[in-house]
Parts: sequence; structure tokens; C-alpha cells
Amino acid sequence: MSNTKYRVAIIGCGRMGQNYAEAYTTYPDTEIVAIVDANAQRRDVLGTRFGVAALYPDVETLLKDMVPDIAVVVTPTKYMKDVVIACAEAGVKGISTEKPIAARLQDADAMVEACSERDIVFAGGNLQRAMNEVQEAAARLHKGEFGNIRGASVHGFGGEISGGGCQHISVLRLFTNAEVEEVIAWGTPPEALSAETDEGLIINGRFYLTNGLECSVFGTPTTCRGVDVWTDECLVRWDWNPPEIFKDYDQHGNRIRLEPNYSPYSWSEFSYLTGSIRSFLSAVDGNGDPWITGADLRQALEVAIAAKLSANRNSAPIKLPIEDRSLALYPRPYRWLGGDVTGRPQSIEEAKS
Ligand SMILES: NC(=O)c1ccc[n+]([C@@H]2O[C@H](COP(=O)([O-])OP(=O)(O)OC[C@H]3O[C@@H](n4cnc5c(N)ncnc54)[C@H](O)[C@@H]3O)[C@@H](O)[C@H]2O)c1
Repeated sequence: MSNTKYRVAIIGCGRMGQNYAEAYTTYPDTEIVAIVDANAQRRDVLGTRFGVAALYPDVETLLKDMVPDIAVVVTPTKYMKDVVIACAEAGVKGISTEKPIAARLQDADAMVEACSERDIVFAGGNLQRAMNEVQEAAARLHKGEFGNIRGASVHGFGGEISGGGCQHISVLRLFTNAEVEEVIAWGTPPEALSAETDEGLIINGRFYLTNGLECSVFGTPTTCRGVDVWTDECLVRWDWNPPEIFKDYDQHGNRIRLEPNYSPYSWSEFSYLTGSIRSFLSAVDGNGDPWITGADLRQALEVAIAAKLSANRNSAPIKLPIEDRSLALYPRPYRWLGGDVTGRPQSIEEAKS
């Protein structure tokens, strides 16, 4: 950890933004210097709750007044692109965003490029890929501790293939150390296939990976709801918890579950949000990459768009990267527009604690 005390602005401080604010208030190397939120009442309450005097209604007003070191963008998805680009142009050192990163591929591209061309660290959000045990299981797979990877599968890729499915795609890419290069998919129900959003769409199919693996995709949960990766003797299973590791077989041919003995991790207070934030800060310090990046979220969006496109084209194979960057897949309205405008506002009482 560096000796720097990073000056952090939380931009969009609703339900999720407040989780970030709790974390950034706690860490010894960060200080929240500003809160930006469109909702005046909530903004005021949060200023008191987090002891922050600099409160702004929008990112433009913030940046006229100060340029923080770190911009934590937790607005509804619709507003992320403009906020991320404004912060990148103003010269912050690191920006984090949330899931899904965008609806339209070219908007995700614009964010990734605005950060990369200025060497700004661009982190993803509260994703399970950033759980320390998920990272450790991946590192052990990559070191060859379990032997060569033979196969992979995704389970429960449905309901919200972009808004929630980015969890699966991010873990799959991490475990296999590969990109999805082609997608073939079948989708149900028909009304979800013809909608603009990812709501209710169930995708079955096949992902072809750059390392030659063919990954089966199950739209509904099987015995698990996450990602399996297997080698000759082992199975590594991420099922929304620290990954389980199975090695060898008992006399009945059943896989034997090992005690994974994950290393202790110094930051444990905020579940996997912690790994996301701590690896982000470490990257801003110059050490490695965030455990979940904006580019990871862009890849996840792209796979989701490819899956829906394939399903809509009678399961035609779709190659990635997708050429038409104007393609879009919207998340459900709550994610896109936030609770205040979609009938699920966070009450002021709730925001107080
Ligand atoms: N990773 C996860 O597990 C997870 C969980 C929940 C939400 N999310 C994502 O986080 C984002 C926010 O979700 P939420 O649950 O906090 O929503 P929310 O509606 O509770 O909060 C959004 C906040 O942003 C503010 N806001 C809206 N437009 C703004 C703008 N242009 N500038 C500044 N502030 C603005 C609103 O006033 C509100 O306070 C969504 O993209 C959602 O998909 C991720």
C-alpha cells in the first residue's frame, strides 16, 4: 500500500454507491472528498452520513471545482459513458465503473479508449471475478497445479445475460485465460428475443474460446449456476462463492472435494467489493491491473450481444470482436435509469444508515 491518501469522488451514490462510500471511508489510504448525486435530498443526507462537505448535483460541477484522484462511477448505466469520459478528460488517475458498463458497444469502446489513451486505470465493479479466492483459484489453474484445462461450461446464463451474465463471462475468461471468439446460441422465450433489453432471456449455446476450448452454455441452472473448468483430474467450480476444487475420484467414481486452503486476504470487510477496490487502488499505485476492469465489462457486454444476435439469426455463428459497434443490449430499466425513475427509489430514511 502506498503512503498516498487518494482523494475519492463517489459519482452516483444510491444503493450501490453507498456500499462503495462505506468502503472508501474505511480504508487508510483513501478519503472521500466529494459526493455527486442527482437527487438533492439523498445527496444532503449522504454528506452528513459520510462526513463529506463537497456535494455536487452532476459531474460537470464537480470537475469545475476539483479533480479528484479517483472517480468511483456508480450512476445508473445510462449515464456512465459521459461521466467516465468527463473524468478521463479532466485528468483523474483512476476510474471505476459498475455493471453493465453500457448498452451500446461503441459506448463501452469509447470509455475503454478514453482511459487507455491517457494511461488512466479503468476498473470494473462489484463482480465476483474480483473475489480473492476466485483470483487465487485462477492463478493456481494457470500455474498448472491442476494440470491442463480440458473443458469449461457456463451454467444459468439467463434472466439478465448482460446485467448479471457479465459475472459468468468475467470468471470464464479469467479461469481459461482466453477470450470468447465465436458464439452460437439458442434463446427463449420469443418475446425476450424480440425485446431491446436482456430481461428474461435464457441463452443456451456454445462459446468457442481462443485457446481451442468449446464451452457449453446452459441457460438455466444445472447442479450449479456459475462456471466449471476441468482438467484431467480436477474440477474448479465457481458457483457464486469461493470456488470449490475437486481432485481425483473415490472408489465409486465420484469427484472428491478438496479443502481449497485459500490464502488469507488482508481486506475482508466488504465481501468481493473489497477485492475490486483494493486491486484497483493497487493498480493506481502502479502494481498490476484491477481484478475486474472496464475492458472486462466491455467483453462481457460483447458476448451477451453476440449470444442474442446468434439466437435471433437461427443460431448463426457470431465472431468476436463484433464488427458492428452500433449494436446494443439494454439492461433492465432499474439498472439503466436507476430506482428513482423506475419506481424503486431508495427512501431518505434508508439512505441515512
Ligand atoms: N455489481 C453489483 O452487484 C451491482 C448491484 C447493484 C447495482 N449495480 C449497478 O450499479 C448502478 C447503480 O445502481 P443502484 O442500485 O445504486 O441504483 P440507485 O437508483 O439506488 O442509485 C443511483 C444513484 O445515481 C444517482 N444518479 C442518477 N443519475 C445521475 C447522474 N447523471 N449523475 C450523478 N448521479 C446520478 C441517483 O440520484 C441515485 O442516487 C447500476 O448500473 C446497477 O446495475 C451493480
